[in-house]
Amino acid sequence: MRAVVVERDRPASVEEVDEAFLRGPADVGAEGGRGDDGGGDDGGEGGGEVVVDVAWSSLNYKDGMALAGDRGVARVSPLVPGIDLVGTVATSASSRFAPGDLVVLNGAGLGETRHGGFAERAVVDAGSLVAVPAGISPRQAAAVGTAGFTAMLSVLRLERDVRPDDGEIVVTGAAGGVGSVAIALLSGLGYSVTASSGRVDEQGDYLLSLGATTVVDRAELAEAGKPVQRPRWAGGVDSVGSTTLASVLAQTSWGGTVAACGLAQGADLPTTVIPFILRAVTLAGVNSVDAPLALRREAWGRLATDLDLGLLDSMTVEVDLDDVIAEGPRIVAGQVRGRTVVRVGG
Ligand SMILES: NC(=O)c1ccc[n+]([C@@H]2O[C@H](COP(=O)([O-])OP(=O)(O)OC[C@H]3O[C@@H](n4cnc5c(N)ncnc54)[C@H](OP(=O)(O)O)[C@@H]3O)[C@@H](O)[C@H]2O)c1
Repeated sequence: MRAVVVERDRPASVEEVDEAFLRGPADVGAEGGRGDDGGGDDGGEGGGEVVVDVAWSSLNYKDGMALAGDRGVARVSPLVPGIDLVGTVATSASSRFAPGDLVVLNGAGLGETRHGGFAERAVVDAGSLVAVPAGISPRQAAAVGTAGFTAMLSVLRLERDVRPDDGEIVVTGAAGGVGSVAIALLSGLGYSVTASSGRVDEQGDYLLSLGATTVVDRAELAEAGKPVQRPRWAGGVDSVGSTTLASVLAQTSWGGTVAACGLAQGADLPTTVIPFILRAVTLAGVNSVDAPLALRREAWGRLATDLDLGLLDSMTVEVDLDDVIAEGPRIVAGQVRGRTVVRVGG
């Protein structure tokens, strides 16, 4: 089986691996795995209950970091990156799945602590596995991927506090994967969306086509400012962090909520308690990796009903397993637009 493999102090490459390698714990090393017939040991942590023939994966910011050998993401070596997979169940020890079922898995350690979706086969735990909803093709499920799943989680969180008639929603990192899907979802739900992007000239029309009503230059938010400023937003979806998130919080109106899911600008958050205690602003954390199964099912159910699949297709480009390695540095540099699906066995 073909797989992208990253190993410490070596550039990523596409290699032939066997199922023992894919089944084994990623951090024990390559013995008895890659390219030979050894092993077959279920291997504890790296093992799983469901074997999936992977059709599609996708490229996320985190995958770019893993492909670069970033030890914060690629936490074991050797590792097959790919935090998403979509495919067909080959064998299942879980009563929830049977051979032939179409399934999707986002996060849950894939491509970080266990072998991920950039391989023709994956051995996964059933605990986070979700059936691909009817109406969504396998390629579209991969296009949603972790970025779109996270956008949906962010919208679910916003909806608890903010209604469309409460005011403007700002989406930062707008032309990226999370941002693009968040704009499509929010505009489809009737929210008025301001897209904040560093690529206004290049991607402004694209962002309007997804449903944004206004596009602003991200430089407006990137500067450090006062802890409360003129209220502009009823809420926000932030995939950028740092001074941008601090500015969004400072510009959020009374009782608003900002869903924070990313750190494309930085992991720091230079703010004070003032937006929280003077404006009753809520900063809501969003985490896709460890989302419980019930929330995964809810989010995928909502993606099936609320995401315009025509818009999803319009923001999607496709690469092969051989080409994904070269895309890694581009997504980390903020040069990729929307979503990139990776054709694995599809
Ligand atoms: N919490 C979770 O579970 C979760 C899940 C998925 C992703 N994330 C995180 O969310 C972030 C976005 O992920 P993604 O897959 O959507 O990545 P992406 O496709 O690369 O999008 C990131 C976007 O952020 C903007 N950006 C990049 N560098 C920036 C900088 N220095 N300052 C300000 N803006 C910058 C760019 O948008 P513009 O060109 O439009 O400015 C870029 O397209 C990442 O930090 C990722 O790790 C977290």
